[in-house]
Amino acid sequence: SAAEKGGHEYFMLKEIEEQPEALANTLRGHFDKGRVILDEQRLSDQDLREVDKVFVVACGSAYHSGLVAKYAIEHWCRLPVEVELASEFRYRDPVLDRDTLVVAVSQSGETADTLEAIRHARDQKARVLAVCNTNGAQIPRESDAVLYTHAGPEVGVAATKTFLSQLAANYLVGLALAQARGTKYPDEVAREFAELEAMPAAVHKALSTVDQVRELSRGIADSKAVLFLGRHVGYPVALEGALKLKELAYMHAEAFAAGELKHGPIALIEEGLPVVVVMPSPKGRAVLHAKLVSNISEIQARGARTIVIAEEGDDTVRPFADELIEVPAVPTLLQPLVSTVPLQVLSAEIARSRGYDVDKPRNLAKSVTVE
Ligand code: G6P
Repeated sequence: SAAEKGGHEYFMLKEIEEQPEALANTLRGHFDKGRVILDEQRLSDQDLREVDKVFVVACGSAYHSGLVAKYAIEHWCRLPVEVELASEFRYRDPVLDRDTLVVAVSQSGETADTLEAIRHARDQKARVLAVCNTNGAQIPRESDAVLYTHAGPEVGVAATKTFLSQLAANYLVGLALAQARGTKYPDEVAREFAELEAMPAAVHKALSTVDQVRELSRGIADSKAVLFLGRHVGYPVALEGALKLKELAYMHAEAFAAGELKHGPIALIEEGLPVVVVMPSPKGRAVLHAKLVSNISEIQARGARTIVIAEEGDDTVRPFADELIEVPAVPTLLQPLVSTVPLQVLSAEIARSRGYDVDKPRNLAKSVTVE
């Protein structure tokens, strides 16, 4: 009923709007007097100090949350992080031992590929930490430790509030590692630590883009394809935006690291092609920002219709944006928490314009329990 959907036509929009709360619930209890506590885990600071390599294994949107974690953990902790699709991980011959930390990210905790990946990891004596939204699911049961996201049940098949909660939990893992092991950037880590706690309010502000995105999505619904570009943590955000659009709107959607544009994808640019660009912060990542501005001007000159997600007050990008979607200014590593929001709305609303069931996309299951 409409009441169950919080007055919305579909659950996904309700769940998008629940994200500040989902995030707050995931973060709650993990901050104590300037320290991160991972109280649901049985990994001691000593265990975290022994880690010499991290693997994140996951599927789908959870995999994209892992890609973001790589940027954060490598920078904060100077620890090598590999992010691996769970279905590829165990059929390769990944190099693991008891000093490897495997972070298995799974909303359902029942995804067969991820479950088999952690079984393989444990056979190799690696330590496994599950990031999971479902109490007592199989993946946390078979892990050494678990960090629960507290997004609540998600009805929409496409992950929204659970994805943002996975991002938040991954940041907590990174901060706990930095705290146990020390960091090269204590001031920055302290700032990001403080800002993470304030992110539910920033996500709430990002929701003010909903009406604008609903409006502009009507103009894209008849396109054949949409491209997504990003760099640094904006790249996994672009991947997540493209995945959502495929899942919900059944459109050809592809994401590229913007630096690769000239190595191929620019050949795809044609008159009227919608290209969504996730901009880095002009202050936080000035060099990357300048490179992306130049990418956008190139694709716009070739006729693309540019839809740009940028930090509020980013005026340099304005002349190159056919549509400018402004999200709150937050530390660069945390930006995916705000820049993902308009992309979720975009895919849902394009799907709705095309007449599809946003909550139950064809051929997809919420949880995939076969390999
Ligand atoms: C399915 C869902 C996706 C999800 C993926 C991983 O494909 O449709 O939304 O990201 O599984 O699910 P998990 O429960 O392991 O996070």
